[in-house]
Amino acid sequence: MTDLLNPTETGIATAARLLSEGALVAFPTETVYGLGGDARSDIAVARIFEAKGRPRFNPLIVHVADLDAARAVAVFDERAERVATAFWPGPLTLVLPLRPSARLSPLVTADLPSVAVRVPAHPVAQALFRAFGGPLAAPSANPSGKVSPTRAEHVMAGLAGRIAAVVDGGACAVGVESTILGLTDGPALLRPGGIPAEALEDCLGQRLEAGGDAARPNAPGQLASHYAPSAPVRLGVATPEPGAFWLGFGPGASSADLNLSPSGDLVEAAANLFHYLREADSRAAGPICVSPIPDKGLGRAINDRLRRAAAPRPPD
Ligand code: TXA
Ligand code: MG
Repeated sequence: MTDLLNPTETGIATAARLLSEGALVAFPTETVYGLGGDARSDIAVARIFEAKGRPRFNPLIVHVADLDAARAVAVFDERAERVATAFWPGPLTLVLPLRPSARLSPLVTADLPSVAVRVPAHPVAQALFRAFGGPLAAPSANPSGKVSPTRAEHVMAGLAGRIAAVVDGGACAVGVESTILGLTDGPALLRPGGIPAEALEDCLGQRLEAGGDAARPNAPGQLASHYAPSAPVRLGVATPEPGAFWLGFGPGASSADLNLSPSGDLVEAAANLFHYLREADSRAAGPICVSPIPDKGLGRAINDRLRRAAAPRPPD
């Protein structure tokens, strides 16, 4: 059952309570509806990927109420301060160095050292952020591969029964996603959107690079910036060799060194994945052997990430 909430004080309070319980709530922004979950909760963010049926853990945008809240999750340099002051709140997302004290779930950033952050202008989104009081991970509120929703009815048509609630704020004014500006390096246009690139160039006094592929920031060219264990990783191993570190999954792996989910729950396994890869790497004296993970639902995203961890390393 997915509740359709009105953007009244009561509706917003209900949405904020659901979010604080780790449930998912779709909400309007001026661009498109977002599928929100607590960006600090591994389980909530794992549920976002499950609800959308996303086949890989691409990083999500973190939504906050204002520039101060954004500074708590990302490191702002002078350029970032300038564009944020000029265009926030509004349809602009900045990719900046992640502030480690932000304590975001690593699923939000796909374990990258950078984070995408945005301050939407929509009054209903603003009211929700203030009631909830924390950062919200929010991709567009549509099933993977479908068009982005600009009305509450569109969200319901795609995700009813898969999420706790939708806050109905009417039609979105902009209708296309936010512009994504990368500032971890030279300024780069990572995705065109609601703010024209020329306006950003005027503000920065600099041309934008035709940035990487924001749709696939984990693509081979950017793999080097991605955390990969230093121990060799072997996948689909039912019975690990002696001396290996066993990263298990399910009830059959009760003697594993670490178990992604003893009950075989893929949402729990996704929530634990990046933490356990790091822990396995710090404890392993030999190879890391990973139990087979079913290749369905969230299991596809988990296997995609594990294959990257197991792939031959590009030279530094
Ligand atoms: O208008 C919008 O931006 C909507 C509304 C709901 O706010 N949100 C949205 O979120 O489009 P999402 O999660 O679907 O878009 C995420 C985009 C992806 O293209 C992703 O690759 C890029 O942001 N992205 C996120 N973190 C990144 C990072 N650290 N480095 C590079 N790109 C990143
Ligand atoms: Mg989308």
